[in-house]
Amino acid sequence: MCNQQVKEKNVNSIGENRSLVVIALGAPGSGKGTQCTKLAELLQIPHISSGDMLRAHLRANSSFGGKAQKAIAHGRLVDDNLVLSLVFQRISAMDCAAGFILDGFPRTVEQAQALDAYRFYKSKGSRFGREIVLQLVVRSASLVQRLSGRRVCPSCASVFNVNADASGREASCVFDGSQLVSRTDDCEEAIARRLQIYEQQTLPILSYYAGRVEIAQVDGDQPADAVTAQVLRAIICYSGEKAKPGGLL
Ligand code: AP5
Repeated sequence: MCNQQVKEKNVNSIGENRSLVVIALGAPGSGKGTQCTKLAELLQIPHISSGDMLRAHLRANSSFGGKAQKAIAHGRLVDDNLVLSLVFQRISAMDCAAGFILDGFPRTVEQAQALDAYRFYKSKGSRFGREIVLQLVVRSASLVQRLSGRRVCPSCASVFNVNADASGREASCVFDGSQLVSRTDDCEEAIARRLQIYEQQTLPILSYYAGRVEIAQVDGDQPADAVTAQVLRAIICYSGEKAKPGGLL
């Protein structure tokens, strides 16, 4: 069997027995969105990004969006009631029955506890499938460079980076031709606050999950395809019966 066939066989068998929930954790700019998008295609389970859902509400000028706008622009966390209701409603959908990938949620220990309580309640107290926490580890200098170079399409929300564009010019969306823009929270002040919140409020989640949930640390400071390969390796490894001990993959 060639490598590609082995990879496909492994990927296809991941969700065969029990549902798989992947929780992607990483600092702003660590590549959670980039990796979760690819992973969702490969594993054929939904990618649920709390940030994307909130930004969709902003674009739609909904009342949810109105309530979240200030917090997002300043790099602060959006109110739990809002975020929990959005995420819980989404993971209750039929297409999440075989599993899903959470990106940007949970973001605090309180959110992780709320997620556990919700899933326990929904599963009527039985085991609710496999959970894997994927932590993307990236140096601070790379994070700031990636965030300041990120551009998004205001129409289709595709994500690009001017650092990857050899011309260094801000381009238009390759999918629909719209002029790319920066995210409002990719300014210096908001980036600093988001990084601080990650250190102070999100990283403690690792201790909350330690010993109960598989945690895989992946070196996110390499080209996106190489990160994807390691992420997949981690998932295949933890989805098999023989889970390997943690460590930077
Ligand atoms: P959210 O959208 O979740 O933002 P974030 O966590 O700050 O993460 P980012 O989206 O900035 O980065 P990413 O890790 O997804 O990186 P990406 O793949 O885009 O949340 C935004 C806000 O919403 C929060 O600040 C908060 O206000 C609110 N919010 C969201 N969830 C919440 C919650 N649970 N509770 C309360 N509030 C919440 O990559 C970044 C750039 O780098 C891109 O340009 C990409 O092309 C590039 N790149 C990616 N990978 C690589 C690579 N390997 N090499 C080089 N470049 C790369």
